[in-house]
Amino acid sequence: MSSSAAPPPAQPAALYGGTSGRRVTVRDIAAAKERHEKWPMLTAYDALTARIFDEAGIPVLLVGDSAAMVVYGYDSTIPVTVDDLVPLTAAVVRGSKRAMVVADLPFGSYQTGATEALTAATRFLKETGAHAIKLEGGRRVVPQIEAMVAAGIPVMGHLGLTPQSVNVFGGYRVQGRGQDGDELMADAKALEAAGVFSVVLECVPEDLAARVTASLSVPTIGIGGGNQTDAQVLVWQDMAGLTPHTAKFVKKFADMNTLLGDAARSYADEVVSGVYPAPEHSYH
Ligand code: KIV
Repeated sequence: MSSSAAPPPAQPAALYGGTSGRRVTVRDIAAAKERHEKWPMLTAYDALTARIFDEAGIPVLLVGDSAAMVVYGYDSTIPVTVDDLVPLTAAVVRGSKRAMVVADLPFGSYQTGATEALTAATRFLKETGAHAIKLEGGRRVVPQIEAMVAAGIPVMGHLGLTPQSVNVFGGYRVQGRGQDGDELMADAKALEAAGVFSVVLECVPEDLAARVTASLSVPTIGIGGGNQTDAQVLVWQDMAGLTPHTAKFVKKFADMNTLLGDAARSYADEVVSGVYPAPEHSYH
């Protein structure tokens, strides 16, 4: 009788760039925290960029209410509505194959209570195919989170500089310094107890983000929170250098502003001079 050793346990697929052939789930995200794997998240608002980021291996795409500013041209995230975000979210789901797509609840769609939050979240799941929902706030949105989690919806929290509250903060400024850090920590623990699967920490001191990350069993996703969080997120137009003015925490990984401007000028020059369209661009 031959004896064969038990096969080694399967290596878990990496969250970033993994090739599982299926969508990333909340279980994959929890497993990444267990094995201390850092991972990237990006925003996306249309099918073409969603495909590019999905093929680059970005495991989570957020259709942020930042669309208010980078897509719709408002000067804050406050005006954007569920009706504005639903078609963008549906496009991102259609453009991606592997990434988990997270839909952001816009201002006014959940502050009034748990029923309203559940109604808005339900629209995103049914009409767009989004896989999870994000909302801003700490202890004050626990009833909303509990209602969504009870309904079977994965929820991502968002603490620190929550842009929908910009008028209370008096501008886009760092949050959680000094004693405010204790409040933020209490909010983070309340969100975890309410059932979120992850928490965005925006514009907070690095040591606070590190302490929150060590205190939670769910992953933290930093944006302006230093490099001790479990994951990072950036608005893609900031990351790619399309946005002219960005916050200190943004690193531009490309210069798309110059690239697109140069392309537009070259195109215009060739149209004006008659170089474009050339014979190879014409039907004969
Ligand atoms: O709306 C958004 O893009 C966001 C991220 C910046 C976290 O909330």
